[in-house]
Amino acid sequence: MVPFRIREYRDEDYEAVRDLFATGMSEYVPTLCVHMLKQPWVILLLACTFCLLLTSSKSLLLPILAVTLLLAMGRQLLGYVWSRYIDHCLQEDLLDIQATYMQVKGSCFWVAEADECVVATVGARPSEEHRQELMLKRMSVRKDYRGVGIAKALCKTVISFAREHGYRSVVLNTLMVQHEARALYSSVGFRVYHHYVLPTFYGNLANCVVSKHRYDIPSVG
Ligand SMILES: CC(C)(COP(=O)(O)OP(=O)(O)OC[C@H]1O[C@@H](n2cnc3c(N)ncnc32)[C@H](O)[C@@H]1OP(=O)(O)O)[C@@H](O)C(=O)NCCC(=O)NCCS
Repeated sequence: MVPFRIREYRDEDYEAVRDLFATGMSEYVPTLCVHMLKQPWVILLLACTFCLLLTSSKSLLLPILAVTLLLAMGRQLLGYVWSRYIDHCLQEDLLDIQATYMQVKGSCFWVAEADECVVATVGARPSEEHRQELMLKRMSVRKDYRGVGIAKALCKTVISFAREHGYRSVVLNTLMVQHEARALYSSVGFRVYHHYVLPTFYGNLANCVVSKHRYDIPSVG
């Protein structure tokens, strides 16, 4: 068991927090590629390219090269779009963590420390849809510290905070590729209450399904 402690965010954690978030999210590129390869339009595009080039060139080399090139370009494009999404998050609430989370009533940001390093992060701020819901955000655990219960402990910290501040529930979103995160939230007691496809061009193209999870805080008395 790795000893760790959870504490509130401090200014000196800034770079470590942003780095942990960006690294954690960038791990999803291979899983996203696999997800894309399962989309019917992608399979059709690859199969048609292969068959058309095979019949027109009467050689296996050209269609294999063309499909390999398409796969490599797809991988690059996906990596680029995903890195733009990560940059967008870094320019959003993670740009000024102190102002967004620590100086706003009903919001907070925590880090987990182990071996004198910041190894995990999580934030919480009121949901924009319902002010009585606390939104859990930016959960990320360094790869070499996973599987020892740090994320579960951070979830419980957010739930306790929500209870102390009179929120009715804790909510969060996951994407269809975040299997470990979905298992984590379900193990803590969150339940999925809504799914939707991201209403953007890339969201529809990639069949990017967002799941909304909720943990209801039991009312006292
Ligand atoms: C998801 C993530 C935060 C989990 O962190 P962690 O510290 O390893 O999680 P914990 O050790 O606290 O595990 C808690 C529960 O999550 C589930 N879980 C975590 N990792 C899992 C895995 N690889 N496979 C299956 N279940 C997993 C288990 O149910 C586990 O409970 P158990 O050990 O009692 O079975 C971590 O993998 C991560 O940082 N991923 C990249 C960033 C990310 O996806 N963030 C979530 C954004 S919504």
